[in-house]
Amino acid sequence: MSIVIGCDHAGFSYKEAIKKEFSTKFEFKDLGTHSKESVDYPIVAHSLSKLVSTGKFSIGILICGTANGVAMVANKYHNIRAAVAWCREVAQLGRSHNHANILCLPARHMTLAEAKECFHVFLKTQPLPERHERRVKQITLY
Ligand code: RB5
Repeated sequence: MSIVIGCDHAGFSYKEAIKKEFSTKFEFKDLGTHSKESVDYPIVAHSLSKLVSTGKFSIGILICGTANGVAMVANKYHNIRAAVAWCREVAQLGRSHNHANILCLPARHMTLAEAKECFHVFLKTQPLPERHERRVKQITLY
């Protein structure tokens, strides 16, 4: 499975660690950033969200300091449900109940182990049908 991943400077080291840990299970398309030099998080968040919104990738991972900035950008796109998660339960429920297709991780507010666990559980969780599907359909404004 191919996953698109991106971050700003605050998420750079977590992005590299997640890629390294899961490279045997997933193929990563890395949109950057590629160093700890300061960059503007909306740039990578827009690029990644477009790829998921248009169906080029079914799952995306965004990492910044709080995860709020990248999630705000991503949730402006059609077909995108970006979930901020900081622990395994929130990551799992974001995928199963909210059918999130982008996981946003707050690198400055969680350990690397927690970030890896969120990634792992998010990828192995399936969106649940029935009442959850009905509620997800109600999210869209247009
Ligand atoms: C960068 O300093 C920081 O603002 C960014 O990583 C993120 O937390 C924004 O929401």
